[in-house]
Order: sequence, then structure tokens, then C-alpha cells
Amino acid sequence: MPLLSMASCCINTKFRLATKGNEKGGGGGEIQSHPAPLLNKQVKFVKSLAPPLMATLVILSPLVNDPVSLGQTIDIQRGARLFSQACIGCHDAGGNVIQPGATLFIKDLQRNGVDTEEEIYRVTYFGKGRMPGFGENCTPRGQCTFGARLQDEEIKLLAEFVKSQADQGWPKIESIED
Ligand code: HEC
Repeated sequence: MPLLSMASCCINTKFRLATKGNEKGGGGGEIQSHPAPLLNKQVKFVKSLAPPLMATLVILSPLVNDPVSLGQTIDIQRGARLFSQACIGCHDAGGNVIQPGATLFIKDLQRNGVDTEEEIYRVTYFGKGRMPGFGENCTPRGQCTFGARLQDEEIKLLAEFVKSQADQGWPKIESIED
């Protein structure tokens, strides 16, 4: 079996190289004479490949894990948390308990001309009708929330969140902490 013996030559060399330094007590001597231990060695060789392979995977994994989508996921979580603090009382699951024709579903948003992030931002900032505004500089006072105001950056995040939820038909967001 010239092929096998060639293989055994190279596998064994690589095996010794791969385990150099952490193989206790040698034990490589009997390989050439017995085919069975050779098989054993081959299995061990494959096993010895596992740690470097794993290391390579771990090193490569940040490249595989798309950082953009990870960032988006975190923003959706933040948006969902803000929404559940400031908006959910009237807009639970994207609805509208005060004004049924002004839900946050895309059909209503389109009909009411609020289907862009900019318009959602404006309505959230200054309020509209019986919806209070949440912006720090919202005026007049009667049109603004009596509760805590939101920062511009928070309103921007909320507008993104509402728009993206509306586009997807308000799917449930899992694992909202707090
Ligand atoms: C006190 C109840 C209340 C709260 C709290 C509230 N809204 Fe509203 N929201 C309304 C009402 C009422 C309307 C309809 C206003 C109108 O068209 O006259 C509305 C409309 C909207 C609209 C436009 C919907 C459409 O189809 O025209 C958006 C977008 C919106 N709200 C976002 C938010 C966000 C984001 C928050 C949280 C920061 C929030 N709302 C908090 C009552 C509320």
C-alpha cells in the first residue's frame, strides 16, 4: 500500500509537529511496525487539529458576526425600552387606545402623512391633537407631556423604532429588560 505508507509518513511528521512540546513521554516509536496504532495516531492527529481549528474560528468569528446588524439589534432593544416607558400607555403593540384611526400601523401612518421617520419625529417631539409632545423644547405647554421630556437622540431612536416596527407589522420584541 504505497499510498498509505506515504500518508503515514506525512501524517506522523505533522502529528509530531502539531503536538511538539505537549506530548508527554514520547510514545511515537511503535508506529511504523503496527497498522492499528497508526490508525490510532491518525485519529489523534485529527483531534490534534481541533484546537488550532477552533482558535482559527474564534479569531475569524468577529468577521462572520456582522457588526452592523448587531448594532441594529441593540438599538431596537433600546427603542423598545423607551417605547415601553413613554408610549405604550396609548400605543400598546402599535395601536392607539385614544384615537383608533391613528395607530402606528403603516396604513394609518400613510393615510395621516406620518409614514416617514421625520414626521414621526415631529409628532413625537411636538405632539398632535390629543397626543402630547415629548421634545425638550416642545411648545405650547398645553400640547406637551406633563411627564419627563425625552432627549432629541431618544426621540430620533423612537422614530426609527416606530418606523421599523410599522414596516414589519409590529412584531413582538423578545426580551425587553426592565
Ligand atoms: C396620552 C396618549 C399618548 C401617548 C403617551 C403617546 N401618544 Fe402618540 N398619539 C396619541 C394620539 C391621540 C394620536 C393621534 C393624534 C392625532 O392624529 O390627532 C397619536 C399619534 C401618534 C402618531 C401618528 C399616528 C398616526 O397614524 O397618525 C405617532 C407616530 C405617535 N403617536 C407616536 C408616539 C410615540 C413615539 C410616543 C411615545 C414617545 C407616543 N406617541 C405617545 C396618543 C399618545
